[in-house]
Amino acid sequence: MTLFDSHCHLTAEQFDADRDAVIQRALDAGVTRMLTLATDVASSRAVIELAERYACIYAAVGIHPESVGQAETGDWGLIRELAQHPKVIAIGEIGLDYYWDKTTTALQQHFFEKQLELAAELNLPVAIHDRDAHDKIIGTLRNFAIRDTRYAIGEPRGVLHAFSGSVEMARTAFDLGFFVSFGGPVTFKNNKRAPEILRALPLEKILIETDSPYLAPHPLRGKRNEPAHVNLIAQRIAECKGLPIEQVAMQTAQNAKELFRL
Ligand code: NI
Repeated sequence: MTLFDSHCHLTAEQFDADRDAVIQRALDAGVTRMLTLATDVASSRAVIELAERYACIYAAVGIHPESVGQAETGDWGLIRELAQHPKVIAIGEIGLDYYWDKTTTALQQHFFEKQLELAAELNLPVAIHDRDAHDKIIGTLRNFAIRDTRYAIGEPRGVLHAFSGSVEMARTAFDLGFFVSFGGPVTFKNNKRAPEILRALPLEKILIETDSPYLAPHPLRGKRNEPAHVNLIAQRIAECKGLPIEQVAMQTAQNAKELFRL
C-alpha cells in the first residue's frame, strides 16, 4: 500500500528534535510522497531545503492568511522567486481565515488573490486554507475560474485542504476544478457529519492529509501528528464508503499525482 500525505508541515518546530526519524517512519508506513507546505517566506525557504534533501518530499510556498499581518514589503517577490524551484509543486497554503483573525480580512483577500494570480501565471495548483470563510472562498475561486484561461481546460487548479464545507460546496468546488482533502477531523467521534459527506463525494475527487504536526486523528487526538498517521484517514474513508483501504490509498495518491502534475 502506498499513501500520499497531501498536506503536512514538516518544517514546524515540533519536528526539530526528530525530523529525520519522522520522515523515515512515514516511509516505513508506506507514505511514499509528502507535500510540506509553507506559511511565510522563512518557511517557504525551509520547505524547499527539506525537499532538496528527500526525493519523497515536495514543497509548496506561499503566505498563509494568518501570516499576512507580519508579511513585509519584498516578501512577495521572494515567494515568486522561490515558487520557480523544481521541487515546488504548489502555491500554499493560501486562503482566508475568519476564525482566528477578523481584523485582517481585507489584507487576507489581497494576498489570496495575488497568490492565485501567481499560481495561474506559473501554472501551479493551489492549496487552500478556508476557516469560516466558505462563501468568500468559493466566490473568489469562481471569479478566477471565469476570467482566467491560463490553465488548460480540465486541468485541476487546486485543493480545498481540511475540507469542512457541505456536499453542495464540494460539488461547486469540483466544477471549478478543485479537489477536497480530508484529515484528522473526519475521524473525530463528535464529527457526526463526516460519514455522510465522505459517502456522498466521489473518491476520484478526494485527497488525504495529516496537516501534521496538528490535528492528529483518533485515537491519537491531542498528540503530535505525523505523516505516518495518514493511513488512519484512509481507513476512515474506507469504512465510510465500504471500500478496501488499499483502493482508497491508491486512488487518493493517484488524485494527488494528477493535481500536482507528478
Ligand atoms: Ni496546514
